[in-house]
Amino acid sequence: MFITFEGIEGSGKSLQIGRAHEHLGRRGIPCLLTREPGGTEFGRALRRVLLSPDGGRREPWSELLLYLADRHQHLREEIEPALGRGQVVLCDRYQDATRVYQGAARGIPMDDIERVARLLGIIEPDRTVLLDLDVETGLGRARARNGSDPAAAAEGRFEAEDLSFHRKIRQGYLALARRFPGRIEVVDAAGSPDEVFARVRELLDRWLP
Ligand code: TYD
Repeated sequence: MFITFEGIEGSGKSLQIGRAHEHLGRRGIPCLLTREPGGTEFGRALRRVLLSPDGGRREPWSELLLYLADRHQHLREEIEPALGRGQVVLCDRYQDATRVYQGAARGIPMDDIERVARLLGIIEPDRTVLLDLDVETGLGRARARNGSDPAAAAEGRFEAEDLSFHRKIRQGYLALARRFPGRIEVVDAAGSPDEVFARVRELLDRWLP
């Protein structure tokens, strides 16, 4: 089973996927925790370029192609082999992030994104946890983290965008949840980490009884 976690900046995605990984480990389920961009050695080099606030302007298609390069490498090198071994794969962001960041927000037509994805053999996840939160709360959390953590600040390219950009991201994700109702589960990401994880755990235990 291939499970992805998605959400706006500051939705608590990375914290929740870490807890999901621990939970499945305790249940004795073999599981790979990985992320995009940066799930491979090549991908980590791409991640530095993609997320640095420096490095000049870039065309939407230039950015899209780098995310897809990261994903293609990640699928072939990590995700598909792990699924082949029967492991559960938990991935922090994946193709839905491309649909909303490069599609809904940067304006690349969705049909074009789907066409390239098909060409590259990009598989869909089996299930997706969408951590949904209002944009003001999410950005407040993300910026507080960047203020106290220089490593997070070095990846602040998207946090620097304005509120209307992040509203498009949230709306884009909710539109995907309507388009893929069997795959994407919307989880309310407001509340304490424990409260949110209780919601996530219930889904995991339903999907992997
Ligand atoms: P992530 O490491 O999840 O950042 P955070 O934990 O701060 O949310 O994701 C890095 C950034 O990359 C995030 O701002 C969204 C962006 N991104 C895209 O624009 N397209 C993509 O296909 C992916 C995977 C990520």
